[in-house]
Amino acid sequence: MVALITGVAGFIGSTLARRLVNDGMDVRGVDSFTDYYDLDLKKRNLASIPKNRFEFVHGDLNTLDLAELLDGVEFVFHQAGQPGVRKSWGSEFDLYALDNVQATQRLLEAVKTDGSRIKKLVYASSSSVYGNAQRYPTVETDMPRPLSPYGVTKLAAEHLCSLYGENFGIPTVSLRYFTVYGPGQRPDMAFTRFFRAVLRGESIEVYGTGDQIRDFTYIDDIVEANVAAAFSDVPPASAYNVAGGSSTSLNAAIEIIGDLTKRPVKISSGGMVAGDVFRTGGSTAKIVADLGWTPVVPIEKGLEKQYEWAQNVFGEGTLT
Ligand code: NAD
Ligand code: UGA
Repeated sequence: MVALITGVAGFIGSTLARRLVNDGMDVRGVDSFTDYYDLDLKKRNLASIPKNRFEFVHGDLNTLDLAELLDGVEFVFHQAGQPGVRKSWGSEFDLYALDNVQATQRLLEAVKTDGSRIKKLVYASSSSVYGNAQRYPTVETDMPRPLSPYGVTKLAAEHLCSLYGENFGIPTVSLRYFTVYGPGQRPDMAFTRFFRAVLRGESIEVYGTGDQIRDFTYIDDIVEANVAAAFSDVPPASAYNVAGGSSTSLNAAIEIIGDLTKRPVKISSGGMVAGDVFRTGGSTAKIVADLGWTPVVPIEKGLEKQYEWAQNVFGEGTLT
């Protein structure tokens, strides 16, 4: 079985690749190495994937020959994208439109034309499609109302997956990830920034009061959801919340970080950032019922694992 992972040098793509290769799957991974964050981290991610069953293609989904990329592929895990909620304003939006919407449309067209053997296309959607949600826990049928341009592009790409599913029977399933953390977390995200700052004796910057709540989800649970979705028989155009069940405020997470690091956590207060929602919290009733998936890693354990990783990566080294 051959799996294609897009965005394979990224946080989630590389973790998923390690899991699939170790499970005996042949994996082809593609990544364009966008400069959104330190390329050394992406190279490190890539180097962590065992080479025996892994082939890397360096290229952009917007320009590559996708028929060639899809040759022999049975499962597509579409993780590539321009992430980050807070940077998606202004002229940066072009990148979000290109790497989230256009790249997804191009991939779906290629699957429609050259992907007859594809059993599942799993798309990395986002809790950001909900914005400040109608209710908590939020269910998949609640009105999506993104609050950031990033969320708009993730929702647009999710709609594309669904409509290619409905019109052409392409077996798409969208997984709405809720703030993913753990070893390898992107360096622009809160926990990696916080651990790095504490290890270097610097202040962490909290946007707003720190009372904001996230349904933080551990990376291995996200990987398991991808595997469960790929091997399921759910109908085309399905969408699921993948939420960790933690409902943790940022202040509570910072307290855990202080306990783990046994170092003083210096805090500076920044203002709220446009696009940031106050709360996320996803119902997992649907994914439990259809895919048998439940999150298993609690926030304390997941942060402990992330701290071990952060010590290796940022403790002594020069990585930014
Ligand atoms: P990441 O930035 O670490 O990984 C994404 C990778 O995609 C990068 O290595 C980048 O170079 C690559 N890429 C971007 N555009 C490309 C293109 N046109 N062609 C080929 N490669 C391209 O991000 P991540 O945190 O691993 O997120 C992976 C996916 O999950 C993204 O689509 C993101 O929107 C989604 N997501 C992430 C989270 C989270 O908390 N990390 C939550 C919800 C959804
Ligand atoms: C994360 C990812 O970055 C998005 O790609 C993803 O789509 C989204 O989750 C999702 O769930 O859909 P976010 O929740 O903003 O976005 O994740 P973090 O960057 O870890 O931020 C968590 C909270 O910490 C936010 O309220 C943010 O404002 C705050 N924060 C972040 C700070 O106070 N200081 C920082 O330095 C960084």
